[in-house]
Amino acid sequence: MIRAIFLYALAIGIFANLADCCNSLDASVNHKQHLTAPFESRSKAGVISITVQPNDDAEHAFGLDLIYPGVPLTEFFGFPVVHGTITYPIPSSPSSGYGSLFGWIQFIKQDFDGEAGNWTLDAYPFAQDLQTPFAYFGYNPSTLDAPAAYPYVNGTTLVWTAQAYLVVLADAGVTKNVTVIPGGAFTWGFDINVDENSPLDRQIVVRRVEKLDVESEWGERLPLLRETYTEWTFQDTGVVV
Ligand SMILES: *[C@@H]1O[C@H](CO)[C@@H](O)[C@H](O)[C@H]1NC(C)=O
Ligand SMILES: *[C@@H]1O[C@H](CO)[C@@H](O)[C@H](O)[C@H]1NC(C)=O
Ligand SMILES: *[C@@H]1O[C@H](CO)[C@@H](O)[C@H](O)[C@H]1NC(C)=O
Repeated sequence: MIRAIFLYALAIGIFANLADCCNSLDASVNHKQHLTAPFESRSKAGVISITVQPNDDAEHAFGLDLIYPGVPLTEFFGFPVVHGTITYPIPSSPSSGYGSLFGWIQFIKQDFDGEAGNWTLDAYPFAQDLQTPFAYFGYNPSTLDAPAAYPYVNGTTLVWTAQAYLVVLADAGVTKNVTVIPGGAFTWGFDINVDENSPLDRQIVVRRVEKLDVESEWGERLPLLRETYTEWTFQDTGVVV
């Protein structure tokens, strides 16, 4: 399983040698990106505000120091840090209560040396035997991800892609019945490019964050969800909560 090598993508990954990572990233989005994704749930409006920025945090590398104590923080520099926050409902109403419970489901795909990988479900290590599909679940939950890749195989290119879907439980968590929210999904990722002439030189390229076509993409991801979480029900697109 990919996780055996790439421990867990929600927080982990490659320690690249980034000494000269950031000088020639013409194709990259080497600044803070913003994306807003309006959505509707329970007939009320909401919006997801997403930021994506290269990790350059000299204090904690956005918390990766907790997961890799002792590793120089510069090893994480250049990888993307993603943060999505939810404003719901609009206009705000405290009486929304349990109606403001949502989940985030995230998928990861890693293509090594041009060979397409398979989509996998992304979960924190502690949760991997809990039979829950959620990366996050809660009251207007934020989503945070700061991937890095480890161990890195020298000379190997990587295209790392994530899809994050905002989902809702129609009965606010009484039963395991998941409905995806149209408009509430986005994709992001990074590439590791290698210079053929000096395979130890790596370049991390943060890609542009984009909204996902939930209608087509969720349908493609459903078989994996259904076979992984057999006690759960995952609604097709078109069901509205
Ligand atoms: C993707 O999954 C298929 C079917 O299980 C498997 O044959 C293939 O080797 C997998 N590809 C990778 C890159 O792991
Ligand atoms: C990659 O190359 C560096 C420098 O030669 C070496 O220290 C490191 O162990 C190599 N990593 C792998 C996974 O082979
Ligand atoms: C799950 O929720 C959807 C959306 O409200 C509803 O249409 C469906 O009947 C529910 N399914 C189950 C098994 O409760």
